[in-house]
Amino acid sequence: MAAKNAKKSNKGYSDVLIGLQYGDEGKARIVDMIAKDYDVIARFNGGANAGHTIETKDGGKVALNQVPSGIFYPGKTLYVGSGCVVNVEKLALEIEKLKNIKGAKIDLSKRLRISCQASVIQPHHLLIDAETGKTIGTTKNGIGPCYADKALRMDGDRLLNIKLGDLLDDPQLYFKKIKENYLAVCGKYGVKSTPNEVQELVAKMESFFNRVKEYIEPDTLFLEKKVQKGARVLFEGAQSIMLDITKGSVPYVTSSNTVTAAAYVGGDLSPSYHRKTIGVAKAIMSRVGNGPFASEFGGDRSEKYCMAVNDNGMSKYPQAIEAKYDIEKLLSSGDYFDIGVALRVMSYEYGTVSARPRRVGMFDLVQLKYAILMNGVNELMINKCDMLNVFARTKRGVLPIVDGYKLDGKEIDYVPGTAQSYYNVKADISYKKCFKDDISSVRKFAKLPKELQSLIKEIEKFCGCKIAGVGVGPERDQFVRI
Ligand code: GDP
Ligand code: IMO
Ligand code: MG
Repeated sequence: MAAKNAKKSNKGYSDVLIGLQYGDEGKARIVDMIAKDYDVIARFNGGANAGHTIETKDGGKVALNQVPSGIFYPGKTLYVGSGCVVNVEKLALEIEKLKNIKGAKIDLSKRLRISCQASVIQPHHLLIDAETGKTIGTTKNGIGPCYADKALRMDGDRLLNIKLGDLLDDPQLYFKKIKENYLAVCGKYGVKSTPNEVQELVAKMESFFNRVKEYIEPDTLFLEKKVQKGARVLFEGAQSIMLDITKGSVPYVTSSNTVTAAAYVGGDLSPSYHRKTIGVAKAIMSRVGNGPFASEFGGDRSEKYCMAVNDNGMSKYPQAIEAKYDIEKLLSSGDYFDIGVALRVMSYEYGTVSARPRRVGMFDLVQLKYAILMNGVNELMINKCDMLNVFARTKRGVLPIVDGYKLDGKEIDYVPGTAQSYYNVKADISYKKCFKDDISSVRKFAKLPKELQSLIKEIEKFCGCKIAGVGVGPERDQFVRI
């Protein structure tokens, strides 16, 4: 009976794509690649803390923060769900930037819809994040304070959580509340602002709001109605499952739920439409910001180095400084810290949002398996496989992969639930044969080096998940489907 009904139904479905490591796995390049198979690309969590890079047709790059990565397909709807937090100024500027992309001129006016229930990043959120986000190493986008206000709802009589729809319903009233929230917080952090300055700050926000209000979607059944008519939805996760507010190593996480299931809260669609989950990982891992990272090249030393800032609060070792290092010397030094620096330089691992050096680590299969199990991943995509040949130039000439964890001397097959215990994990490393070939122009599995083919099979076995493709370079077509 059920099968009969399913046959008759012309309804669409939804797939969820998520990052399986610490963010920046190359989610956006996969979304860009598969977007043609969907009608709607939708975000369900986070905000301008995301930095999603896709290649333009002329080989340039565009970094998206709040707009879903389906921009290059004119017929596709782009949806920002109620689980997102919206910075109206950054959004207006992002839309403007897309309009001016050379040769593409992306017009979002009939394509972008943003849930009226998405919370608004208010000036006091940015202020609090700037004052308090340093230890975690946040992106300073006010994400945590905004989600915190969402959970708090009110402080006495003062409304904390303001939604885009509120600003549409009664701008005068809700911008006044935004002003009150700012003033209340200024006092706490000793920030002196004259009434005129606050007035100007909020007026500026209102002018940006006026530029984006046409995109606000009042219909809370917007996606449901589309899917009923057959639309295929791809949910594009931001951040990654290791940065999930509940599942990650708290407090070194973002402030939203990033797991598959979160798509069906923040994405405004019923889970009954779920078809499959696509997980994205990268063969050389990275993490930006503080927190445990069991497979980090150079461990502790690397964490401290990457988080070091100068007197102006800027990174002490930005890309321009590291670009001058002698890569071959670093690779052959035999020190994992040096190998990490070399890999960062070679694969441009610097924050898309913050330009901070990303901490770099070896491929960690224990962490990956955990992420797959926790999220019901059906298909795995692994980017940056082209970078694995770099290990052939290291002193040992072998590829190090983490395939075991020990905590207090005992083997564990899970990711510990607290930051403290995760910091105490000792990673077991296996050394695999490394290929030397440049694989950036390979497009067929059979043409990949034998060492990589075996590694892919080994990972599938270890993680119990099908690998659907591997990235062999950052360009749009540098991908091998399996
Ligand atoms: P996202 O946040 O998950 O969308 O990822 P980011 O855009 O922040 O970072 C991924 C970076 O890796 C971008 O600079 C991509 O161009 C790059 N990238 C993605 N896939 C590959 C790949 O297969 N090989 C190489 N060399 N770079 C890749
Ligand atoms: P995409 O979507 C990598 C990290 C920050 C910090 C922590 C909390 O591009 O993969 P937040 O500003 O969210 O309060 O910062 O989370 N972080 C990311 N790291 N990729 C991201 O997004 C990230 N978004 C937040 O560096 O450690
Ligand atoms: Mg990113």
